[in-house]
Amino acid sequence: MGQQPVSRVAIYPGSFDPITFGHLDVISRATRFTDRLIVGILRNEHKHPLFSVEERMEMLRESVAGFANVEVDTFEGLLVEFAASRGASLIIRGIRAISDYENEWQMAHMNRRLQPGVETVFIMASESHAFISSRLVKEVWKLGGNISGLVPLPVLSRLERVAQKGRGAVISE
Ligand code: PNS
Repeated sequence: MGQQPVSRVAIYPGSFDPITFGHLDVISRATRFTDRLIVGILRNEHKHPLFSVEERMEMLRESVAGFANVEVDTFEGLLVEFAASRGASLIIRGIRAISDYENEWQMAHMNRRLQPGVETVFIMASESHAFISSRLVKEVWKLGGNISGLVPLPVLSRLERVAQKGRGAVISE
């Protein structure tokens, strides 16, 4: 009898406020070496997001609709516990410039200490996406700049709707 193939389940955690083409690039590349990719949106009461968790989940689901093996979920508390509850052995993180490295280094080591069986895998952002962040997208949008090409269509159309209510009032970070 041959060995059963091991199913590679991965969590891609983050705030995704909102999802950008940078995130989508990481998702797309992670699907090449995972059997099931769960995008986990952190429910964090201490941050003041532009979009509610439900809105972010909706935009993410619409943006990843073309991927057969990608799901979107939310989590609270420890990431490694969420990973364990989903049978995930991998945590995916995108890394852009060296400035991302320090924080990611700390998180990866902490997560390994908490749950040695879960491995963090870094995907380096592609050149064309390395400068994109949710924070900058929100800032440019707030100041009336053009953000097309930076975020998927579901985000663009939502931001257009938000703009009708007034950009400044809803930006908190
Ligand atoms: O997109 P972000 O905001 O950089 O994502 C950060 C995130 C959600 C990955 C991180 O804050 C996280 O994992 N939070 C869960 C709490 C936790 O497990 N903390 C201890 C391990 S570092």
